[in-house]
Amino acid sequence: GGQRDLAGKQLLISTGGTREPIDPVRFIGNPATGRMGIALAQAARHRGAQVTLVHGPLEAELLQQLGGICAIAAPTAAAMAQAMLGHQPQADWVIMAAAVADVRPARVAATKLPKSELPSDLPLEPVPDIVAALATARQPQQLIVGFAAQTGEIVPPAKAKLIRKGLDAIVANPVDRPSSGFGSNQTQAVLIDRAGRQRISPPGSKLELAHRLYDFLRDLA
Ligand code: C5P
Repeated sequence: GGQRDLAGKQLLISTGGTREPIDPVRFIGNPATGRMGIALAQAARHRGAQVTLVHGPLEAELLQQLGGICAIAAPTAAAMAQAMLGHQPQADWVIMAAAVADVRPARVAATKLPKSELPSDLPLEPVPDIVAALATARQPQQLIVGFAAQTGEIVPPAKAKLIRKGLDAIVANPVDRPSSGFGSNQTQAVLIDRAGRQRISPPGSKLELAHRLYDFLRDLA
C-alpha cells in the first residue's frame, strides 16, 4: 500500500495468548507467541498510525521488538478485556489478534497446590468474549476486526464467527498447514468483510499479511 496512508489513525491491537491461572505456578494457556500482533503493530507504525498493543506474555526476544509502540501487558482474559475495553473509545480500528483462552478455572488457589492436592477434575468456566463485547460497544466509524484460527475448512466457520460476534471483518487463518500458524513467521489467510467479500492473502510473512489486512480495511472504511 501507499506509505503513511494510516497517518492520523489510532489502532488498538491485541496479541499473544492469555494464561488463566489454576494457582500461582500453573495455568491453562495456548501456544500463541504474539508474532502476528507485533507484525500488525510494526506495519501500522510504518504506515503512520499510532498503535496501542495489548499483549499476553511475550518471550524476551519479542519484547525487544516493541520499541516505540505503546505496549500494555494483559496476562489473563480478564486483564485483556479490561485493557481493550478501556482503550477502545480512542481507537479507529480495533484488531483482536490475541488467542484468548476459551475457559478458565472456576476457582484460583491463592497458594501453590501440592501435587497430592491437585484435583482430579478441574471445574472450568467460560471467559468473556472480548471481541464480541468490543463490537457491542462499537463507536461510530470504528472497525472491529477478529481473527479465526481454523483447521480444515476455514471460510464458513470464520464467516459464522464474524456474524455471531458482530464484527466488521475477520482474518481466517489455517493453522494446520506447514509454515502457517502458531509461532511461525510465515502465514496465509482469507480476509472476509461483513458483506461477505473475500480477499486471499497468499503464503508469506506475517508482515505481508498485516499490510494486506490494512489495504483491505482501508477499502472498507
Ligand atoms: O476463539 P475464536 O475462534 O472464537 O476467536 C475468534 C476471535 O474472537 C478472535 O479475534 C479472538 O481474539 C476473539 N476472542 C475474544 N474473546 C474470547 C475468545 C475469542 O475476543 N474469549
